[in-house]
Amino acid sequence: MLTHAFSLEGSSIKTVAQAVVAALIERLAEPPPAWCLHIYDPAAVDTGEEYSRPRLIHQEVITILKQRRRSLAKALCPTWSSQTHLAQVVLAAPTLTFMSITPPEHQQALRANMSPYVAGYVDIPDDKAPPSRAFKKLREAIEVFHLSPKRGETCVDLGACPGGWTHVMVERGLRATAIDRSPLDDRLMRNKNVTFLKGDAFTWLPKEPVSWLICDVITTPDRTLGILDTWLSKRHCSFFCVTVKFKGTPDFENLLKIRQLLRTTTRWYDGKQLTNNKNELTVVGEIAPGA
Ligand SMILES: C[S@@+](CC[C@H](N)C(=O)[O-])C[C@H]1O[C@@H](n2cnc3c(N)ncnc32)[C@H](O)[C@@H]1O
Repeated sequence: MLTHAFSLEGSSIKTVAQAVVAALIERLAEPPPAWCLHIYDPAAVDTGEEYSRPRLIHQEVITILKQRRRSLAKALCPTWSSQTHLAQVVLAAPTLTFMSITPPEHQQALRANMSPYVAGYVDIPDDKAPPSRAFKKLREAIEVFHLSPKRGETCVDLGACPGGWTHVMVERGLRATAIDRSPLDDRLMRNKNVTFLKGDAFTWLPKEPVSWLICDVITTPDRTLGILDTWLSKRHCSFFCVTVKFKGTPDFENLLKIRQLLRTTTRWYDGKQLTNNKNELTVVGEIAPGA
């Protein structure tokens, strides 16, 4: 989200950078607060193409700042946190640039609409080791929601095949029980920390509670609600990360039921459509003690 956005003059790398610097000097008082700079072209954010204009403008801003206001250049932080101002520059078109500077005190109110990632886009690097690209969804969820599955913990992966999510948990040192109708990738089937069980994701339950439930089964939201209800209400896990998938438009009726369930059974929960989600949401949380 851009708060109190304003437009900037200029179209070349140099003139846009000069306009950005002028706005920063005007709006960030001396001594300058910690601040962070996100520059992006919304049309190019998720194409994955090498696109240099935002990067070149960013470099030019730093160069000009070092000449004109060294203190501002020094106060620039590489990442946005709860203490930093966020300056966003949106390259909407070659001759149309918008800018916004959001102070830290507005972050709490805007937290659902602001992101520490440039344009909210989370770039999970490619990795040839996991057997499917679905691994990106779980790695992103772990990063964005600050999850911490750890060595020695246990997890159940419902609808696990070919094993991207199981791979992510096992490489973090967890022991995984993978439930699917089809076996996992051979390397995971041979992994001593993976137990594959042929079973039905909708009815299979562990004999003892596990640390994590992860579930990426392709089904309708009402059936995902059923899985969550059983696992959370009966406390079969401590933490969970589950995708809720849609066919066509979102199923708000069942989403509201899921939210109600999470409100009543968890210590905390969160959920959103991640960069690596397609027509689905990821919901995560920790079950409340005694829920
Ligand atoms: C999107 S894939 C999971 C991908 C996996 N998370 C990964 O990272 O590789 C969904 C899986 O759910 C499984 N599935 C669908 N219905 C199931 C059921 N009733 N019981 C067990 N597995 C099921 C499918 O066989 C499929 O492997």
